[in-house]
Amino acid sequence: MDYETIEIERHGRVALLRLNRPRALNALNAKLIGEIADALTHFEADAEIGCVVLTGSAEAFAAGADIKELRDKTVAEAYLDDFLARWDGVARARKPVIAAVAGYALGGGCELAMMCDFILAADTAKFGQPEIKLGVIPGSGGTQRLVRSIGKSKAMELVLTGRLMGAEEAERCGLVARIAPADKLLEEALKSAQTIAALSLPAVLMAKEAVERAYETPLSEGVRFERRMFYSLFATHDQKEGMTAFIEKRSPKFEHR
Ligand code: CAA
Repeated sequence: MDYETIEIERHGRVALLRLNRPRALNALNAKLIGEIADALTHFEADAEIGCVVLTGSAEAFAAGADIKELRDKTVAEAYLDDFLARWDGVARARKPVIAAVAGYALGGGCELAMMCDFILAADTAKFGQPEIKLGVIPGSGGTQRLVRSIGKSKAMELVLTGRLMGAEEAERCGLVARIAPADKLLEEALKSAQTIAALSLPAVLMAKEAVERAYETPLSEGVRFERRMFYSLFATHDQKEGMTAFIEKRSPKFEHR
């Protein structure tokens, strides 16, 4: 895989995807979004990958959509091309994707982080939806995912004022799962990813799918969905192995089947 705007590293069963447009603070242009989508498609098809970490640089996870690319678009170009639909690759990924955020995660950058399954933040992280200051609104799920994540009042305040919030506030309000010192962020994210990637892949994918259902369905249907998933895991090798290993007091050897 040969990319211009992202870098890929393999760490065992974990793929690390690093956004790499440092001079533009990882502003998300069409090329970068296309390369993320392409890399994720490869990760999804690769049976040796169990989890993905998405990160940026020390200064910026991503400072938003590329404003220079957006400024001159017409309504017709934007609507007919529907360029933001291509951003959904991360949200559609079946394998877990962890966002490791240091520095700015603004606008589309914050939206991209929220498309991931959870966010680990460096103590330097700054989150916000400052689109209102550009005369527009969030366009890639910000008004929806932020409300579900941190509640209406705080989401509304951030979206209407464009104020940025630091890592501690983001953790306090539930946007962020955990904070790490900036120089330990990647180590922590890779550790989490490796923990997940070592577990039974069918169980991990079903756990992710079931949690996501909580967004989309009423509680009773979500619980029924979860139960069906739970029962279906009894058809896997890894369920028998996991429970046998517990009873025999040894570590399980998952085969991801
Ligand atoms: N688009 C394009 N270029 C960007 C950018 C963006 N979103 N953010 C930063 N850059 C570029 C700057 O233009 C600058 O490039 P030049 O050196 O060529 O001028 C370089 O990155 C460094 O940026 P600054 O000089 O501004 O750095 P700073 O440290 O003074 O400020 C910042 C950092 C506060 C993040 C500031 O860059 C900023 O406010 N960026 C824009 C944030 C924003 O409004 N994001 C929302 C974009 S719209 C969107 O995302 C829509 C959507 O929902 C899909």
